[in-house]
Amino acid sequence: MAKMEVKSSLLDNMIGVGDMVLLEPLNEETFIDNLKKRFDHNEIYTYIGSVVISVNPYRSLPIYSPEKVEDYRNRNFYELSPHIFALSDEAYRSLRDQDKDQCILITGESGAGKTEASKLVMSYVAAVCGKGAEVNQVKEQLLQSNPVLEAFGNAKTVRNDNSSRFGKYMDIEFDFKGDPLGGVISNYLLEKSRVVKQPRGERNFHVFYQLLSGASEELLHKLKLERDFSRYNYLSLDSAKVNGVDDAANFRTVRNAMQIVGFMDHEAESVLEVVAAVLKLGNIEFKPESRVNGLDESKIKDKNELKEICELTSIDQLVLERAFSFRTVEAKQEKVSTTLNVAQAYYARDALAKNLYSRLFSWLVNRINESIKAQTKVRKKVMGVLDIYGFEIFEDNSFEQFIINYCNEKLQQIFIELTLKEEQEEYIREDIEWTHIDYFNNAIICDLIENNTNGILAMLDEECLRPGTVTDETFLEKLNQVCATHQHFESRMSKCSRFLNDTSLPHSCFRIQHYAGKVLYQVEGFVDKNNDLLYRDLSQAMWKAGHALIKSLFPEGNPAKVNLKRPPTAGSQFKASVATLMKNLQTKNPNYIRCIKPNDKKAAHIFNESLVCHQIRYLGLLENVRVRRAGYAFRQAYEPCLERYKMLCKQTWPHWKGPARSGVEVLFNELEIPVEEYSFGRSKIFIRNPRTLFQLEDLRKQRLEDLATLIQKIYRGWKCRTHFLLMKKSQVVISAWYRRYAQQKQYQQIKSSALVIQSYIRGWKARKILRELKHQKRCKEAATTIAAYWHGTQVRREYRKFFRANAGKKIYEFTLQRIVQKYLLEMKNKMPSLSPIDKNWPSRPYLFLDSTHKELKRIFHLWRCKKYRDQFTDQQKLVYEEKLEASELFKDKKALYPSSVGQPFQGAYLEINKNPKYKKLKDAIEEKIIIAEVVNKINRANGKSTSRIFLLTNNNLLLADQKSGQIKSEVPLVDVTKVSMSSQNDGFFAVHLKEGSEAASKGDFLFSSDHLIEMATKLYRTTLSQTKQKLNIEISDEFLVQFRQDKVCVKFIQGSQKNGSVPTCKRKNNRLLEVAVP
Ligand SMILES: Nc1ncnc2c1ncn2[C@@H]1O[C@H](COP(=O)(O)OP(=O)(O)O)[C@@H](O)[C@H]1O
Ligand SMILES: [Mg+2]
Repeated sequence: MAKMEVKSSLLDNMIGVGDMVLLEPLNEETFIDNLKKRFDHNEIYTYIGSVVISVNPYRSLPIYSPEKVEDYRNRNFYELSPHIFALSDEAYRSLRDQDKDQCILITGESGAGKTEASKLVMSYVAAVCGKGAEVNQVKEQLLQSNPVLEAFGNAKTVRNDNSSRFGKYMDIEFDFKGDPLGGVISNYLLEKSRVVKQPRGERNFHVFYQLLSGASEELLHKLKLERDFSRYNYLSLDSAKVNGVDDAANFRTVRNAMQIVGFMDHEAESVLEVVAAVLKLGNIEFKPESRVNGLDESKIKDKNELKEICELTSIDQLVLERAFSFRTVEAKQEKVSTTLNVAQAYYARDALAKNLYSRLFSWLVNRINESIKAQTKVRKKVMGVLDIYGFEIFEDNSFEQFIINYCNEKLQQIFIELTLKEEQEEYIREDIEWTHIDYFNNAIICDLIENNTNGILAMLDEECLRPGTVTDETFLEKLNQVCATHQHFESRMSKCSRFLNDTSLPHSCFRIQHYAGKVLYQVEGFVDKNNDLLYRDLSQAMWKAGHALIKSLFPEGNPAKVNLKRPPTAGSQFKASVATLMKNLQTKNPNYIRCIKPNDKKAAHIFNESLVCHQIRYLGLLENVRVRRAGYAFRQAYEPCLERYKMLCKQTWPHWKGPARSGVEVLFNELEIPVEEYSFGRSKIFIRNPRTLFQLEDLRKQRLEDLATLIQKIYRGWKCRTHFLLMKKSQVVISAWYRRYAQQKQYQQIKSSALVIQSYIRGWKARKILRELKHQKRCKEAATTIAAYWHGTQVRREYRKFFRANAGKKIYEFTLQRIVQKYLLEMKNKMPSLSPIDKNWPSRPYLFLDSTHKELKRIFHLWRCKKYRDQFTDQQKLVYEEKLEASELFKDKKALYPSSVGQPFQGAYLEINKNPKYKKLKDAIEEKIIIAEVVNKINRANGKSTSRIFLLTNNNLLLADQKSGQIKSEVPLVDVTKVSMSSQNDGFFAVHLKEGSEAASKGDFLFSSDHLIEMATKLYRTTLSQTKQKLNIEISDEFLVQFRQDKVCVKFIQGSQKNGSVPTCKRKNNRLLEVAVP
């Protein structure tokens, strides 16, 4: 299966533009904006064509990992986002594969990240080039040369805690396979003034601090040093400690690195001895001393320090002491000695220290070179890495800045030359018509400085060599004369000056218009620094030293080789080395890294636009873009171009069969890109304007989206269809299973129903049979039973007489008979008397005879009563009848009744027949007299009573006077309607008469009698038998009587006992008659 390869491009996911060449519109503002935008997104690298701009992030970014190295390894330059590794890879591969020597030029101001960049390049190359023990050792030595050089050549400055104070160029040499063989390091212009004096906030070179912090006590003692920075005049104290820097640890690292690089122990020791000597030189102090001839003279204050230095370096103390006091000038075989005053002595001391240190540094570089130099003589491929200070524009610019800026002018010049050359070569190679490019050529400035006859450096040398008084002012005057008309030179003093009134230009200065901007140089110190004078006495003293290293550092001190010619000035030395460097670089393929410092605070995330703008200006980056863009802004090989844009045209999408170039032609035609916008080279397409490229990119992006949509569409369709098919298939399976299941279920239902029906029918049948069988069985049983009973009856009938059970009944009946017999016989003997009131009756002997016993008692009583009644005569029967009547009428109704029971009813109490008194009366009455008795008649008016004879006959009731026997009243019984009496124990009673009758004219009668019960009973019986009507007898304690017309109420009350037992009667008023009953 073909592996799908996704080609990425710089153009993918760009933040801003990855290549400034593509910037539209191009001006300073957009340039800075683009840098800032990328910086804010941690994209610190940006291209200008093949130049890498690097903005110092001031913090570690995760973009240098071994994985990143692998990412960039063997990838095309434009394939990934801009990176220093891409440039390193490009350089290395071009060196290895195309046999082109390379140089990597890193520029930028102090703290912009040059040294870091050079280390990154070296580490990348080390990581990707060949492997193996030998190769690794070479690599290690090359890499370890850095810490040694940094310890001696770097220092903390206000701009950078690890600022390189020298320019460095390192050639790394490779064999034909690309394996490293070794290297050569060149150093430029160490800032040696730092040894004796440092600006505020800065330090001396690291090695001094490292030595004092990290050396063992023993080593310090040996070097006659003390672990105290403040003891040494040459060490600045205000920033002796640097944050985040461990000097002691670094010292060990440096010692270790020296060992790896190949320093012998004694060599390392000698180096430290020289360092110690330099340090101690600073402590030598002078005092003035007057001599007789009036010349100023100086004297060393404390010779102890001097003594120690001499011990350390094995110099004769006297020789050194003399060298600090005298200066010998030799001219034409003559020696003239002059004394040094204090200032001169200090100058000499500092000059010695500076020289000692800078020569030591050069020696170190050479020594390292010796170690790392390639061992073979075969032809080598070379990659040069130049880490040199960039353009410097300070407030006060002096000789050093002048030299540095000169170097940068030269670098710019070769950059332009090489860029243009490369551009031109490419055009030729690609067979594209060359169009002339307008650009600023700085050759004229280089000429102003380096011209051998009237260049500034040449004139400075001339001044320095001129006999007579030479000062910085005379030098400036000379410049003013010679360069007055030069376009790029400006000075207030020059004749016919255009700047006579320019106040920004002080008198002691001159100004040069560098390609990167105008720089004002203070002329002071130029002559001295150019001379770089070390008195011959001192160099001779040094040569005489017993210390081999020091001796070798001052070869001019050898009297045998005395050379009267002045040593070359600093300026001319530098010019020469720059020239060599340029020559060297010109033979190589250049790669540029332009470092930019985003802020002055060494702080992350801060992007100071004005600071960056300044750097962009003097680095000439815009110029750089313009040169690069002069012809065509963008070019790309046909294959990747077609690969990237083929989806924009039907013919090329998805595959183009023919050659890539014709594919691109078809594509561009189809897209109707104006012909003047592009050209076809041999292997590349050239696009004039970035706009066109971006149009292409936009189209591509749009098209990619469409394609993505298409893919998405097809994928979704496919997914839905697959899903649908699956569902359909599943549905069929499910329905099949379901149908089967349903059928099964239905079948089972039918089956079970059939079973149920079957079982019912079977049950029914079985029950039917069972019933029949049972019936048959019962019939059989019944027949059997009947037969059995029948037989039983027969048998019992036959055998009954023999049954014991019948005996019981007979015995029972017999016993019962006997008991009854006995009971009756006993009763006969126990009979009670025949008196009806006798309550005795024998007790019952057996419970079962209870009813019989009671019946017998009743019958006996009735019989006894009958017997008793049968004894009575008719007379007696009558009396008892009357008594019975009275009982029925009054018993329990009238309280008087009980007392009457015992009295026999006599009726005729008065013996009228016999008493003559009543003869007349007797005669008047023909009928039979039933009652004759005296009663008290109550007077109706007053209640008083009078005695009367009360007579009752069969038909009448008569009242007669007791005395005379004269009849007073006669009332037929039919006129008597009612008799009233009280319920109490009195004998009062009222006889009510029928209203309207004759007898009733005077009203009802009210009587009182001792035989009330008898009289009332007889009256009742007589009335009943005569009139066949029941006389109404009212028993009440209050009743009404009719007196003439009035109705009077008779009321019985409870009277007092004082009148005895006789009731009294009183007429209360018309309506009431009160009877008081005792
Ligand atoms: N690529 C980088 N990544 C992280 N820090 C960096 C990088 N480049 C520079 N720095 C920081 O900036 C400081 C100064 O860098 P350096 O290379 O010494 O500057 P120069 O050599 O230009 O004076 C370094 O010490 C380091 O802290
Ligand atoms: Mg540096």
